[in-house]
Amino acid sequence: ANTDPQEIFDDKVAREIRIEPKDWMPDKYRQTLIRQISQHAHSEIVGMLPEGNWITRAPTLRRKATLIAKVQDEAGHGLYLYSAAETLNISRDEMLAQLHSGKAKYSSIFNYPTLTWADIGAIGWLVDGAAIMNQVPLCRASYGPYARAMVRICKEESFHQRQGFEILLTLSRGSSPQRHMCQDAINRWWWPSVMMFGPSDDQSPHSAQSMAWKIKRFSNDELRQKFVDVCAEQVKLLGMTLPDKDLQWNATTEHYDFGPINWQEFWDVVNGNGPCNRERLEARVKAHEEGQWVRDAAIAFAAKQNDSIRK
Ligand code: ACO
Repeated sequence: ANTDPQEIFDDKVAREIRIEPKDWMPDKYRQTLIRQISQHAHSEIVGMLPEGNWITRAPTLRRKATLIAKVQDEAGHGLYLYSAAETLNISRDEMLAQLHSGKAKYSSIFNYPTLTWADIGAIGWLVDGAAIMNQVPLCRASYGPYARAMVRICKEESFHQRQGFEILLTLSRGSSPQRHMCQDAINRWWWPSVMMFGPSDDQSPHSAQSMAWKIKRFSNDELRQKFVDVCAEQVKLLGMTLPDKDLQWNATTEHYDFGPINWQEFWDVVNGNGPCNRERLEARVKAHEEGQWVRDAAIAFAAKQNDSIRK
């Protein structure tokens, strides 16, 4: 039998056998997963903020209940993902410290403001739509705990995407100011959503290795193209347009061509200088500090339970 750990690992990846926490794995594979899964977890948690902003102002009780449930789902996604990352031998405290110090990234998209109710629809349709496009292939990622967490997350994301589209559909059939609000939200969220997939393939330092390890199954540009193709059709159902004058069906490639992406804006946001970066981090740090008593209480309670079991 083969006893070389690297060969056993390579063979498992080649044969689509999941890598599990106790298996030997190359250190760089572990580090890549910690980076990606923890950034993904941070994105879910920070992603609660722009939408949480509208819970008190949702237009009806049904909308409010749905939005609360959705924001709560994002918290759950963050928790599954932190747990998946912990199996790689990093503690939650360390991950949170990396987020709070600005060392760890989270998705660029959550650094944009939510100005109107229509933004909640646009986030569901576009941002969660982009998230699903990127995350469905992650259900087949080579690392078991990540792949399994993604299955449940994707089910919930697809519900989020539909609730967002339905908000926009309702607005698109409403009064002229409502239709205007709908188009305005699409205009502001479109390009940041297109950027969510990350730098183009020739500028993406991690893609080639992550694809070889079968963490990523499609490149950033491949997923971005799929997203554009889907949205270019769905926007027609809304009777709205995407803010790209170069968007055009290309019969040769059988994809939509689209205009240039403003990479300067993308890197500004990724590097901490987007419209809401400072506000988002401050809100997270404040929530963490103000939650200290809850963590203390939980630990004290667990200690008491243990004590009474021993007695
Ligand atoms: N926002 C912030 N940073 C980004 C983004 C983005 N949209 N896209 C890429 N980056 C960062 C990468 O994290 C990497 O930085 P690092 O080296 O400091 O970690 C750098 O830009 C270069 O990018 P890539 O080489 O393409 O990095 P990677 O292979 O990790 O691909 C991607 C990026 C596609 C985001 C990948 O990490 C991924 O699929 N992550 C899981 C999905 C996810 O995090 N989604 C979050 C938003 S969806 C949601 O939460 C609802």
